[in-house]
Amino acid sequence: PRKKRLIIDTDAGVDDAIAICLALRSSEVEVCAITTSFGNTSLQNVVKNVSQCAFHCGPPTPPPATPLVYVGAAQGLSGEEADASYFHGKDGLGDAGLPAVPASFIENLISSEEVPNAILRLAEESKQDNTQLTIVTLGPLTNLANVLTLDPTFASSNSHVDLVVMGGCGNAHGNASRVAEFNVFSDVEAASAVFSQWDSPTLTVVPWELNILRPLPWESFKRVITSTQQSSRTSDFLTKICAKIYIPGDAKDGHKRSSEGAVICDALAVAVGIDFGGVVKEFRETNVEVDVREGMTKGMTVCDWGCYDGVERPKNVKWVTDVDVKKYEDLLEEALLEDNRL
Ligand code: BDR
Ligand code: CA
Repeated sequence: PRKKRLIIDTDAGVDDAIAICLALRSSEVEVCAITTSFGNTSLQNVVKNVSQCAFHCGPPTPPPATPLVYVGAAQGLSGEEADASYFHGKDGLGDAGLPAVPASFIENLISSEEVPNAILRLAEESKQDNTQLTIVTLGPLTNLANVLTLDPTFASSNSHVDLVVMGGCGNAHGNASRVAEFNVFSDVEAASAVFSQWDSPTLTVVPWELNILRPLPWESFKRVITSTQQSSRTSDFLTKICAKIYIPGDAKDGHKRSSEGAVICDALAVAVGIDFGGVVKEFRETNVEVDVREGMTKGMTVCDWGCYDGVERPKNVKWVTDVDVKKYEDLLEEALLEDNRL
């Protein structure tokens, strides 16, 4: 059978970059598109950062044969802007002073096709080829909401497509506000549209609290991500962009809240996208709604864990509550440490 395909929607971001490298170098999946949006940094920076990932994940010179990167939403549905430079650095990639990617490489890498059209086309191509397609969103849900505007039946008419969303928090313990997670908070209307309109049981959420519960242990982080033992173009790149961000033992802010390991939300979401059965140990089917109102609970993902208000709510997501960290580490190891594909 053909390899399963992945579309990664990203606001790259350091943890997005680790996630993209994991996907691009995994032997288990084929990445058919990386779609970009505003979020951790500006759209322009995100496109540059994704290009850096692609450049450092392949052989040094030849540009890709077909475009891989698509330029999506520069702002949220209601004109929101976002910024997480306090964590990801001014350039969104750890301010590592990387040289620019050669223009000749970027030229062939970036498509002029609009993101929603590209996603519809790629879903159709996968349907024709009888191939499973997983979309993993690692940033605000604006691009996905635009897909559902273009084709409201997208989810129900494409049973070969599933969606993994990194976002939300099910315990009202947020990182963008007291109760809201960053990706949902950055475009609440889009998140609300996706959760309410993805009318298929194929939507999985990898939430913030799961990442706090199951960080990648620092020993593993040092072995498989910033490895100096088996240095490669990819690990040198990841080591540079992580240097100021992921400091073993540091538990200063939201992303580093666990001193036991590195909270690399987007890489965990991609690991779930690559191998749901292997990585996910436990999930709960629940109803989730997004609070879109202005005020202190804006962006809160309100889950129904079985309350007694007598209202039957449809279960619209699989909320991941536990993962196998060893399997997550194995996927990272297979992708990032085995250098025979470069
Ligand atoms: C999410 O917010 C971003 O800063 C990260 O890249 C991740 O996607 C975690 O809340
Ligand atoms: Ca992200």
